[in-house]
Amino acid sequence: MKPKITTEGRESVSKEVQSSDSAPSGQPGRLDDKATSASPATFIAQISDTHVVDPENPEPLFVPNNERFKDAVTRIEKETPRLHAVLATGDLTNGGQLPQYAAVTEMLEHLTIPFLPIPGNHDDRDGLRVTFPDMPWADAAHASWVMTVNEHVRIIGLDSTDPGVHGAAFDDEREAWLSDVLANTQQDGVQTILAMHHPPFSSEIQWMDRSGFEGRDRLTGVLQDSGISRIFCGHLHRPMQSVVAGVPAQVGLSTIWQVALDLGDNPEVQLIDGPCGYQIHRFSGSESVSHVRYIATEAEPFRPDWADKYN
Ligand SMILES: [Fe+2]
Repeated sequence: MKPKITTEGRESVSKEVQSSDSAPSGQPGRLDDKATSASPATFIAQISDTHVVDPENPEPLFVPNNERFKDAVTRIEKETPRLHAVLATGDLTNGGQLPQYAAVTEMLEHLTIPFLPIPGNHDDRDGLRVTFPDMPWADAAHASWVMTVNEHVRIIGLDSTDPGVHGAAFDDEREAWLSDVLANTQQDGVQTILAMHHPPFSSEIQWMDRSGFEGRDRLTGVLQDSGISRIFCGHLHRPMQSVVAGVPAQVGLSTIWQVALDLGDNPEVQLIDGPCGYQIHRFSGSESVSHVRYIATEAEPFRPDWADKYN
């Protein structure tokens, strides 16, 4: 299916996403048949903090952001089994400007599975809404959505941004929206995933935590006994795991630079061009497991001399 042209003259990349034929904007969306495969398991790629830039106005960068994004998308498209969707956990672009979203659109042209973006603090809510018009955006100030991937998995994309600031917010409007989603759309046998840019836990990398999370306790209260099985985040530019209100929560690695690990007091602000890539989350029944796919590496798989013992 070719991308369609929006009224802004730019291509929609959410081409395999239906915001439910009969549902008004803000209602849960459902991926179409192209999103499903014969596999009994569900596979979701998580790409994060890609910080795509406008190729016509190259900003000084530490690593080739757009090349990394393109490499990740190319690799995702080749994954076997075929993945069901790509979840992008924020900071899709470096500055939330339309030419940057246009660059995203162009690089997603050959992606044949649905691309599900949530905003990060570097994004622009309206830029995302215009670029991905078929996403079931909430009828609200925040750019959140709910998407049923298939009969086994659904994703709640929660906008954790507070426009203009680095930190996160979970305000009255979002509390009401998330509580309503959890109360009225739970289904037995369906794993519910919460995706949000800012992690609802402290990294203990002090300079990254300093910008804070307004309303974090309020969010933790909503998550308690919510039935959510996993929480996937970005923002911290390095992989880490925690548990929030009894729910496993994790941050995916960035496709560009990572934040250098320093758990001491007053650490220097340091980045590192360390291993980068994306994650693949596999869901089956009530279980799930998460893997990392590294990109921008020369390392190739090899067969060890003891492999015959296994196959
Ligand atoms: Fe970021």
